[in-house]
Amino acid sequence: MKIGVLTGGGDCPGLNAVIRAVVRKGIFHYDDKFVGFLEGWRGVVEDKTVTLDLEAVGGILPRGGTILRTSRTNPGKHERGMERCLETLRRHEVEALIAIGGDDTISIGLKLQQLGAKVVGVPKTIDNDLAGTDYCFGFDTAVNVATSAIDRVHTTAEAHNRVMVVEVMGRDSGWIAVYSGLAGGADVILIPERPIDIEEVAETIRERHERGRYFSVVVVAEGAKFARDLDPQQGAPVVRGGGTDEFGHVRLGGIGNVLAREIERLTGYETRAVVLGHIQRGGSPSSFDRVLATRYGIGAIDMVHRGEFGFMAALRGNKIISVPMAEAIGRNRKVDQEMLDVMTGMLDRVKEPAR
Ligand code: F6P
Repeated sequence: MKIGVLTGGGDCPGLNAVIRAVVRKGIFHYDDKFVGFLEGWRGVVEDKTVTLDLEAVGGILPRGGTILRTSRTNPGKHERGMERCLETLRRHEVEALIAIGGDDTISIGLKLQQLGAKVVGVPKTIDNDLAGTDYCFGFDTAVNVATSAIDRVHTTAEAHNRVMVVEVMGRDSGWIAVYSGLAGGADVILIPERPIDIEEVAETIRERHERGRYFSVVVVAEGAKFARDLDPQQGAPVVRGGGTDEFGHVRLGGIGNVLAREIERLTGYETRAVVLGHIQRGGSPSSFDRVLATRYGIGAIDMVHRGEFGFMAALRGNKIISVPMAEAIGRNRKVDQEMLDVMTGMLDRVKEPAR
């Protein structure tokens, strides 16, 4: 069978492991041939391809990024974009396409599937919030990076009697913040699921310092928002400017600095912010992510040969299964109540979540 593969959206550690698993099982077990489309959907719209064979996937398992490169190209925003995708697939005699990506990438895959292409999805996001699957590869690596940064920030916070704010990724959900915050022993964790009450954050820190702890570590997800009534921006996220991408997403970032300024103003304690940004997405995947990504890749190639088109590989419990791509689109998987309870249990003083 001739199979196309692409990686779309933000990169994340483990993408190469998925590609490698797909290609190795496809060649060794099914006698498949592959074509790689470069830079996400851009490669399909503009017919940019690369050979994908055993040599191409040799040695890529520990490498971050993606050998196919990626972009946030939305074919729907390009002239005849969807038709051009279908034409490219026909030109290369692609019988099935494996689209590895998040909500946006999968949504284009589903549209092409509805237009007659045969598409299988592999879910991917560093934020770990894709609906339809319990866990995304890349998340574990990001949490490890963030945890080690929090550990480092801890020692300097302690040395200087400071409050340190660490801003981590997490556009719509706070999975990275909760996991790395718990693993790193943060004193305050702020996530998009709960509007930030800045007075309460300041009070928590003040009480902690009055108790004799002379420093604090705050972890905040980039997509966290201030409670509407306290916020001059009326509940909007803090953005870097620079417009939106082709799927309409703004560029988040900066909440850490805003928070640090406000904490210092309200408490009088010296406060600094650290923004981890893309450091969390780069570099070699953890062993856990290499194995999970490999399982997703094997799941996807097996789905192609079972004819499960319009479906994506998903982790449910500890099993890789296939679920309709539609399940992943248009909503996020928020931090669940159990993790919120763990977080609440570990933090100094937090308001109960709005239910
Ligand atoms: O969606 C994953 C993500 O890493 C978000 O957490 C972050 O807001 C965004 O991508 C950053 O995107 P870009 O790489 O385009 O700056």
